[in-house]
Amino acid sequence: MKTVKLDYPVHTLDNRLLLPACKELTSESMDELIATNKDTSYRALSFLEHGTVYQDMLHILQKPPYNTVLNKTVTLTLMKKISFIHPLLKFLDYFKESDFYTYRHSLVVFAMSINLARDLLEEPEDWIMTLMAGTIHDFGKICVPLQVLKSNDPLTRAERSILEHHTLAGYVLLCYLLQDRRSFAAQAAKEHHERRDGSGYPLGISLRDRMVEIIAVCDVYDALLSPRPYRPTPYNNRTALEEITEMAQGGKLSREVVQTLVSHNRKDRPHFRECRVSTEKRGIPPADNLYGVIVEKEIKCPNCHGSCIKKKTHKEYREGVDYISYECPNCGKEFDEDDLLNIEMDKH
Ligand SMILES: [Fe+2]
Ligand SMILES: [Fe+2]
Repeated sequence: MKTVKLDYPVHTLDNRLLLPACKELTSESMDELIATNKDTSYRALSFLEHGTVYQDMLHILQKPPYNTVLNKTVTLTLMKKISFIHPLLKFLDYFKESDFYTYRHSLVVFAMSINLARDLLEEPEDWIMTLMAGTIHDFGKICVPLQVLKSNDPLTRAERSILEHHTLAGYVLLCYLLQDRRSFAAQAAKEHHERRDGSGYPLGISLRDRMVEIIAVCDVYDALLSPRPYRPTPYNNRTALEEITEMAQGGKLSREVVQTLVSHNRKDRPHFRECRVSTEKRGIPPADNLYGVIVEKEIKCPNCHGSCIKKKTHKEYREGVDYISYECPNCGKEFDEDDLLNIEMDKH
């Protein structure tokens, strides 16, 4: 496992600290953490019978484009076979209460994953693993403050960084709760924002796992089709498919998985290998899309509180790389980028 450090702490839903910021995630440190979970009372509970999951899923299955893209019988039949341990279902309860988008998104990614996995994966056990992992791929969002998840404004660099923490946080939490460092759900939580060309996060690795790729494509598709605080108008289905096709063309997402998604959008449902995907772009993305826009906010100097920190205009090189530094024009105290992130995150 490539060594990676946590930028922020990981805690459970009841606010128990599992790992502090700066902790290195190695095979040994994960095994040590898992060994601290002595809970042997986990009981598997039906996903379908949990809370209002069944009614909410029926609602999703009736709404376009999901009423045509998803096979209702297949979705509900497989849903009956799924069970989760209680702490995983609590994740759904938490988001149903506090951020309905993440709750609904988890159900959609579950349903989408199963519909694509059945076409792309040969082993039924792999379908089940994929759709279970699809449901909890954003588990780590319990470690992201709600004001960041639901922010109506473009995120600052620090907020963006803590949002991205949900991948590693999800990995740690799921390894711990499932008492298994090699669990596929934990891997999917960590890697679903990685991209084939290495342009994703948290590690910038080249994503090649077919099962995670299915979740990644379903994740992007639903995110584009949903109204978000940073984009009140969602993409329409056609434009969302064009956007995803472009991502596949650009080497970010698997072409075969995208081809399967497009085949589910065709009335005649061609086999995905025979489905011709047009690269022509006719749709217009929503004009008010602020996704990926980073704002530089004014930050008050925590030393003198008398002025806002400013970027130094002259360039410095340290150890052969550009070094960006900041200072307070009032008291002269210097800061680097890490200091700025810490100051901003202290506000959450
Ligand atoms: Fe995510
Ligand atoms: Fe997601």
